[in-house]
Amino acid sequence: DARPRVFSGIQPTADSFHLGNYLGALRSWVRMQDTHDCLYCVVDLHAITAGHEPKVLRQRTRVAAAQLLAIGIDPERSTLFVQSHVPAHAELAWVLGCITGFGEASRMTQFKDKAARQGAERASVGLFTYPVLMAADILLYRAAAVPVGEDQRQHLELSRDLAQRFNRDFGKTFVVPEAYIPTDTAKITDLQDPTSKMSKSSSTPNGIVELLDEPNRSAKRIRSAVTDTGREIVYDPEHKPGISNLLSIYSALAGESVAELEQRYEGHGYGDLKKDLGQVVADFTAPIRERTQAYLDDPAGLDKILAVGAEKARALADATLRQVYDRVGF
Ligand code: ADP
Ligand code: NA
Repeated sequence: DARPRVFSGIQPTADSFHLGNYLGALRSWVRMQDTHDCLYCVVDLHAITAGHEPKVLRQRTRVAAAQLLAIGIDPERSTLFVQSHVPAHAELAWVLGCITGFGEASRMTQFKDKAARQGAERASVGLFTYPVLMAADILLYRAAAVPVGEDQRQHLELSRDLAQRFNRDFGKTFVVPEAYIPTDTAKITDLQDPTSKMSKSSSTPNGIVELLDEPNRSAKRIRSAVTDTGREIVYDPEHKPGISNLLSIYSALAGESVAELEQRYEGHGYGDLKKDLGQVVADFTAPIRERTQAYLDDPAGLDKILAVGAEKARALADATLRQVYDRVGF
């Protein structure tokens, strides 16, 4: 496969992905399959860094994989797998941890933020070394490109530093990964608090649209989204964050430009837009929900898909790890 290789992971830390995850990341995962050699990973090792329930994690990992299949990740074209099925992730993370400076790791702002929230005694060492594990995820597959949002930029920078450092000290082994900025993503905000992002951890229950929501419920959440004062339907994130967010969602899902939508809704009220968008969202999520359920209803089939993915991933990862072990003197 001569196409550039891309690696991306997502944590199984919620019962469903939400529209922000989809429009901000997962939709571009689907599209990258046309241009890249893609490895997509449900990163369950990352998901135990901040406390978890084993039964819940096991279920969420399966639901996450089923949703990725349901949105169009094609296991024939891409390598779709679960991180814990490939032991080399943890093994390489150890080696990389040994070339990461304590001070360097301490500068990671995401850890500082999360540790500040959890308290220094509760925040785990796993949370601290999370970016090192992320570097291992990427470097194991010699990925050339990694799609990253703003929140992961510093972590990708660490991955690049570690790759370069290892190559310098032990001989050329890793590809230094580049950030890939997909052009087809949108940042989605909370429906009830449109100045903050739609997020599983911080949004109010009615502030988010989950892909696995009952479609009627999603439509209702859209209809009850907070909008701004005034009545004009125009895209103006600064002064009209609520209506702008709805226009972004509408544009992304319907494939129409914001300008086209503004024109169509000229002279209409917010209620018309919300009613229509509610329908667009429900029509979009309903088949995803059904397909996800179909994968979950066939546990042996899902296991098989993930086993094949893990086998493909292991072949690549083990080759890299063998070389790493050799170079470090094991
Ligand atoms: P959450 O913020 O709900 O915890 P994650 O941090 O697990 O979501 O993010 C998973 C992926 O989805 C990341 O690539 C992230 O950038 C993207 N993402 C999350 N929320 C949004 C959003 N509101 N708008 C756009 N992209 C988002
Ligand atoms: Na997050």
